[in-house]
Amino acid sequence: MASNKTIVLITGASSGIGLETVALLAQTSPDFEILLGSRSLEKGTKALETLQTTHGDSLKGTISVIQIDVTDTKSILSAREQIESEYGKLDVLINNAGIIVTKPLVDTLTNLRETFETNTFGPMMVTETFEPLLKKSANPRLIHVSSDQGSITGRLDATGKWYHLKGDTYRMSKAALNMLAACHRVNFSEWGCKVCAFNPDFCVTNLTGEEGRQTRLKWGARDPKEAAAALVEVVLGNRDGDLGKSGIVHVDGGVLPW
Ligand SMILES: NC(=O)c1ccc[n+]([C@@H]2O[C@H](COP(=O)([O-])OP(=O)(O)OC[C@H]3O[C@@H](n4cnc5c(N)ncnc54)[C@H](OP(=O)(O)O)[C@@H]3O)[C@@H](O)[C@H]2O)c1
Repeated sequence: MASNKTIVLITGASSGIGLETVALLAQTSPDFEILLGSRSLEKGTKALETLQTTHGDSLKGTISVIQIDVTDTKSILSAREQIESEYGKLDVLINNAGIIVTKPLVDTLTNLRETFETNTFGPMMVTETFEPLLKKSANPRLIHVSSDQGSITGRLDATGKWYHLKGDTYRMSKAALNMLAACHRVNFSEWGCKVCAFNPDFCVTNLTGEEGRQTRLKWGARDPKEAAAALVEVVLGNRDGDLGKSGIVHVDGGVLPW
């Protein structure tokens, strides 16, 4: 029998925005059963231990770690089998895992392949695999953590704050993810799944490594808790007005152009 709790799977939740979202969801309600997705079980377990030490009794929802590498079909299938046998359904899927390739001297094709494998192919394969479990939910939701860097309209705006930032590969991967979100919105509407692409904006995380983290701090990037707070609002349905609009759901409210 399917669980009475709201089952939420967040990929790439061993750090940054994903981890903060796990924490905040667990603080929001005991009704959440949160699956902290991590490609490394060890890293995910450590992250959960730190969370429990830091937040203690304020964590009302249940959290467990699940191994999921979004570039590995076997790992995705095994995560689904585990969730199906334990809970019988999935209510919310947050495709959050993402990368920016920062290794020096990586040729363009390798960079493209690595970036798309995680940021675009991963969310598509994870969603396809979990679609049957989402269909068993009374209130299914699918959130793709995207980026304003993937907005084509934004890219062409010479007054935009990131106009001079290149990052073509990352931008392309997130633009494709935005299209995937649009396709999912259309394809899944008949069984009532609410879908969005979400922009967390510029946050202090590990996305560009330790050096990048320091640069993010220097440039006044946000606390990822702000992105987590907005994601929790999306999960709770408090942003459904924005989900009905055409565009990327923005952390500060409203939507950004595709
Ligand atoms: N931070 C920003 O300014 C910003 C802005 C716009 C959008 N975003 C998006 O927000 C999302 C979260 O990123 P973040 O900023 O929180 O960065 P982060 O701290 O680096 O978190 C990214 C997470 O994704 C995981 N991951 C990477 N490859 C994976 C794979 N193949 N399978 C499963 N998990 C994988 C990482 O795990 P490991 O620790 O094992 O590498 C990490 O837990 C990403 O999609 C990113 O593109 C971030």
